[in-house]
Amino acid sequence: MSKRFYVTTPIYYVNGAPHIGHAYTSVAADVLARWRRLDGHEVFFLTGTDEHGQKVEKAAQDAGVAPQEFADRISKQFQGLSALMGLSNDDFIRTTEARHKLACQELWRRLRASGDIYLGHYEGYYAVRDEAFYNESELVTRPDGGRAAPTGAPVEWVREPSYFFRLSAWQDRLLALYESEPDFVSPSSRRSEVMSFVRGGLNDLSVSRTSFTWGVPVPDDPDHVMYVWLDALTNYLSAVGFPDTESPRWPFWPADVHVVGKDIIRFHAVYWPAFLMAAGLPVPRCVFSNGWWTAAGEKMSKSLGNAVDAARLVETFGLDPVRYFLLREVPFGNDGDYSDAALVRRTNVELANDLGNLAQRTLSQVAKNCGGLLPARGAATVQDTALLDAAQALPSAVRDRLDRLAFHDALEDVWKVIRAANAYIDHQAPWALRKTDAVRMAGVLSVLVEVIRCVATVLQPFMPGSMAAMLDQVGAHPDVRGLADLATPLPPGLALPAPQGVFPRFVGEAGQGADAD
Ligand code: MSP
Repeated sequence: MSKRFYVTTPIYYVNGAPHIGHAYTSVAADVLARWRRLDGHEVFFLTGTDEHGQKVEKAAQDAGVAPQEFADRISKQFQGLSALMGLSNDDFIRTTEARHKLACQELWRRLRASGDIYLGHYEGYYAVRDEAFYNESELVTRPDGGRAAPTGAPVEWVREPSYFFRLSAWQDRLLALYESEPDFVSPSSRRSEVMSFVRGGLNDLSVSRTSFTWGVPVPDDPDHVMYVWLDALTNYLSAVGFPDTESPRWPFWPADVHVVGKDIIRFHAVYWPAFLMAAGLPVPRCVFSNGWWTAAGEKMSKSLGNAVDAARLVETFGLDPVRYFLLREVPFGNDGDYSDAALVRRTNVELANDLGNLAQRTLSQVAKNCGGLLPARGAATVQDTALLDAAQALPSAVRDRLDRLAFHDALEDVWKVIRAANAYIDHQAPWALRKTDAVRMAGVLSVLVEVIRCVATVLQPFMPGSMAAMLDQVGAHPDVRGLADLATPLPPGLALPAPQGVFPRFVGEAGQGADAD
């Protein structure tokens, strides 16, 4: 039976329109999902929208519409973002769906039954923007003398009856989890951060609110709605059928990786495993945190008004260059400052020149000098073998990198081979061999076509559309584009379609803040 792989994005708040920061987490998760499918796994890839809470209620009020209507509208925009970014998600969960409410209420009942949820009284600071509670000691002083959350969000003093989750009781078991599963919180810098937070002691967590109604009702106590994070995190369970363990999707649980931004690591790496352990459910294998895209050094966000619109980028530069850039420019886990100029540079140098030209040069010679038929391999030289070995090692190299979400390293591995292939074509000069040694010319071109096939195969998850076009051109039938298919060479004599450029160079105005060449 094939291996299962379950990957998630965070579910996005429906309080504002999607931007490139959201697209980033989603594209990363999409690459993992596509890679695993290519590698023969059975994949469940989930994304969706987080539609409850005070923040959404307020945004709806500001827009003058009912919360559900507002949520419907913005959720559509996020569904549009999935389509825009070419996501291959298997489901799109919305927390206002009946299946989700059912799952939340069942989880609640289990936590109540185990004694992990009790009724008390909450008094403290709450930041609506973060949907988070803060201790007095965590607050910072604003320039105007007022108090704010460490994130800069305004806080309000809240006093109301509340249910609590007995988080304090889970400190040792959480630390034991981080010790026994070192990859549970990744990358390791985040693991240290989370561990020191937990070592510092945990307060019980307020998990219900009575001051607003836009949420999942607490079972048997309709004055309360569930705290939005308990509700939101449960989406990962509701989409695989919880509490129905007979659901065909249930075997996907526990998730293999939750990809999340670094601002929400605490919720995923502390609260979530505690809720799950308390409910007697297995915990996810890994919570991997990505960094932020910044604009002029500041986190890009809707509320700061400095967000880069994903639709503009895709329209201007094309989908695949944007997907490639997001994962190539910055090591996953680190922050990166966005600029159009950097995107144009990578598109022109790495996609158009390095890869696009390699394919174009090779395939136009096959078209012109080999009658458009896949040439036969001659006796292999040392150079042929070295290049082919490097290309054939790509599936396992990229697999190792992607197992650790090192997207940029995976791409660098592929580009090493592409650069080596460019050096090989320059050195072998097949165009000069045409008159002197046609058999060797054919051998060289055959090596190059095979290298392009390997490269395009492993790059499919990153740039699905362009790599499908490239694989068409090297004669790889759509049914034989998996990693395992690379073991079988394409038959010489195969008729190849007329070559066409896959990556145009970007020329012209690059748009916002750009100093493109
Ligand atoms: N609704 C919660 C998540 C609940 S998951 C059970 C939430 N939503 S969010 O819409 O505010 O953010 C969703 C994701 O987008 C987070 O992972 C966040 O880090 C990411 N990003 C938002 N802005 C970003 C950047 N500027 N750069 C990179 N990622 C960013 O949090």
